[in-house]
Amino acid sequence: IQSSAQSAIKEAQSMQALEDIRIKYLGKKGELTAVLRGMKDLSNEERPVVGKIANEVRAAIEKALGTAKTEMKQKEKNLRLASETIDVTMPGKADALGHKHPLTMVLDEIKDIFIGMGFKIAEGPEVETVYHNFDALNAPKYHPSRDLTDTFYITEDILLRTQTSPVQIRTMKRSKPPIKIISPGRCFRSDELDATHSPMFHQVEGLVVDKGITMADLKGTLDLFAKQLFGIGTKTKFRPHHFPFTEPSAEVDVTCFKCNGDGCRVCKGSGWIEILGAGMVHPNVLKECGIDPEEYSGFAFGMGLDRITMLKYGIEDIRLLFENDMRFIQQF
Ligand code: PHE
Repeated sequence: IQSSAQSAIKEAQSMQALEDIRIKYLGKKGELTAVLRGMKDLSNEERPVVGKIANEVRAAIEKALGTAKTEMKQKEKNLRLASETIDVTMPGKADALGHKHPLTMVLDEIKDIFIGMGFKIAEGPEVETVYHNFDALNAPKYHPSRDLTDTFYITEDILLRTQTSPVQIRTMKRSKPPIKIISPGRCFRSDELDATHSPMFHQVEGLVVDKGITMADLKGTLDLFAKQLFGIGTKTKFRPHHFPFTEPSAEVDVTCFKCNGDGCRVCKGSGWIEILGAGMVHPNVLKECGIDPEEYSGFAFGMGLDRITMLKYGIEDIRLLFENDMRFIQQF
């Protein structure tokens, strides 16, 4: 019994195996226990002799088990430590850091400039009513921009806004003058996608309504804006234009501006580039929003964020802004 137990102990590979051996030999139904139980059948002379041997065998097995368990514990601990070792000399995994999209960068700059002049940011829905997008903005019933070929309609009365100007209407209906807001957001027009057109694009609207607001305020505001965005030497030029919701209306051009890096290619031709539309809020629009045009006046402007971003960075294809090609985006 002793030698078979000892060789089993030698071969045991785990704590569990050692415990099984203990049960097999020393447990209630174990082999040595059976021998001890059988002692009562022995003669008086044999009993002490066998008893002594049995006790010696039990002591030997217990001792062997004890040593083996201590060694096994150490071995299992070493194995665990080895498997859990961290190699502190391995290079770390660097988290890829993202950064802002060029449109967001330019929009942040535009927001900062207008916030600096006391404007607040207002937002409106991209899914709009025909009323807010056209009717309340004084657009004639048969204005071509209302056409199915130009505008995405969801129902007869609901569309994807074609401009951020409906936010003017929502703001004037919601609050009393003085009003001084800009409203950036997505717009949609049924345009074929090419280098300069995208059916989804961005505008930043501006609206100021108060007592005694004049065209001079509009010119001063936009001139300061252009100088801050494109550089202090930038000049602005107002060309007469027409929008249904402003009277008088103008398109605003800026002089060529310097670009960083390898330069921009935007200074072709006349040396002026159009950047936005603007004008004095039409009395009909004020009236429609419950503001008395005899008491208040206002100006509004709207610019294409995508176009301005392209000019600022010398980007020649609008599609680059929306394709999310990492090679393009990582340049900014
Ligand atoms: N909403 C006009 C457009 O999309 C721009 C504009 C806004 C013009 C406000 C004048 C005043 O072209």
